[in-house]
Amino acid sequence: MPLLTWSWYTAKRLLAEELPRRWAHTRGVAHRAAEVARMLPREDRQILAASAWLHDIGYAENLVDTGFHQLDGARYLVAQGVPRRVCALVAHYAGAVAVAEIRGLSAELEPFEDEGGPVRDALWYCDMTTAPDGTPVSFSERMRELRARRSADDPVIHALDRNEDERAAAVRRTEELLPTATTHV
Ligand SMILES: [Fe+2]
Repeated sequence: MPLLTWSWYTAKRLLAEELPRRWAHTRGVAHRAAEVARMLPREDRQILAASAWLHDIGYAENLVDTGFHQLDGARYLVAQGVPRRVCALVAHYAGAVAVAEIRGLSAELEPFEDEGGPVRDALWYCDMTTAPDGTPVSFSERMRELRARRSADDPVIHALDRNEDERAAAVRRTEELLPTATTHV
């Protein structure tokens, strides 16, 4: 099965029934990714699209191990033989390094390399400009919503305090690639 078809099918199988809101968000992120992918070199398009479908599968109950969803998702993908680059993009999206530090899981994240660059930035952008229900939002709205939804002692919120600028920079760099070049940060 082609990577992209497998990624869509796997995300649907893991999220659609069990976590419908997460599935709606995932579809929104994949939609964003399809738009952004047009600005990327051909060989990167499928990687971004597959990563967008797969980025939140670590929330599926069957996959929860450490409870650090980027890591749980990435480890599952490694076990399925998914290209390493996709696994690493999923492991690192949206500033996972800071969450790993806070949760004492840096050693576990270590085997996955953060590739940096436009594909990684674009995955972060797509996630951070898509609301939990899948609708497009600005980066600042999304960060406001994240802070409102999670408690102040949530590691994700502590991580956000450390890396909001890094996230904003990824969004800005991606927006510069887009034809309208609008900045919402
Ligand atoms: Fe997400």
